Amino acid sequence: MAGGAHGDVAEGRAGTTARAIRPRRNRRSDWARRLTRETVLTTDDLIWPLFVVEGKGVREPVASMPGVVRYSVDEAVTAVAEAAKLGIPAIALFPYTNPKLRDERGSEAINPDNLVCQACRAVKDAVPEIGIVTDVALDPYTSHGHDGLIEDGRILNDETVEVLVEQALTQARAGCDVIAPSDMMDGRVGAIRAALEAEGMVDTQIMAYTAKYASAFYGPFRDAVGSSGTLSGDKRTYQMDYGNSDEALREAELDIAEGADMIMVKPGMPYLDIVRRLKDTFAIPTYAYQVSGEYAMLCAAFERGWLDRDKCVMETLTGFKRAGADGVLTYFALEAARKLNG
Ligand code: PBG
Repeated sequence: MAGGAHGDVAEGRAGTTARAIRPRRNRRSDWARRLTRETVLTTDDLIWPLFVVEGKGVREPVASMPGVVRYSVDEAVTAVAEAAKLGIPAIALFPYTNPKLRDERGSEAINPDNLVCQACRAVKDAVPEIGIVTDVALDPYTSHGHDGLIEDGRILNDETVEVLVEQALTQARAGCDVIAPSDMMDGRVGAIRAALEAEGMVDTQIMAYTAKYASAFYGPFRDAVGSSGTLSGDKRTYQMDYGNSDEALREAELDIAEGADMIMVKPGMPYLDIVRRLKDTFAIPTYAYQVSGEYAMLCAAFERGWLDRDKCVMETLTGFKRAGADGVLTYFALEAARKLNG
């Protein structure tokens, strides 16, 4: 501001203030940065998603997810034991279902001896201290790759929910701790909660995929579970439109009222605003899923030497926490835990 008595005073004050307030003081040394750091990532924040496949002694690479493998149940147990040792609190299981076992109705989802149930029992037996999250949706089991039942090209909501309830009960009976419905059918959380209560499984938690967007970032996952080649069309009639944010609040309100213990946002990095809104509004344990496409895109840059792997992994995971997430499902869980245990 130039000229005049008033202007001079204001300028003088502002000038003094600008020199006296120096945000860089708190950044000057390592100890000061540690002392003033608002958000810290710990191993307690990690959930490790892993893929299981038939066989014994199998570790089969997933081409579009470098470093990620599908484990046979015995190998999964070994890997999960390592995760537990690293201090990771929970894993999330996903099956690669033999194409011969896939059908229109996803019947294998309710087979008490399917891969996920086998893995649940084996992990519970060998590594009882780790939490097991299982995905409820039909896509790894259907011949068409959709999460629900289809009639005349339409996904049937209520009929699908009936099957999902059976799938959830099947997983809970096999010993999973947390049911995670990822299908986005209306009313599924309430229906699953009621069925669990009716069976006396009152302690089984539900982590609802509350704000699950119809995203192009799931591509590599669909390779991993073998549904990419079979998927007809897209999932936009049940997964959310990525332009929407208020809708996530309405979904969360429903899931919580229906009995969800935890909620989730998915994908992760492009949706941190949604994490923040849900956490601020509902103050419930809230998780973010750093999905397969996010993993793949980071790995592609790491492989080319364009990004620093260690630094970027920690930065992205801490970013989820800063946005309000209580934890992150991430394919980087093991390496992040190793680094944190450093
Ligand atoms: C199944 C499901 C998907 C993912 C988790 N559960 C795929 C989809 O909805 O098409 C994606 C996870 C990832 O991309 O890492 N409904």
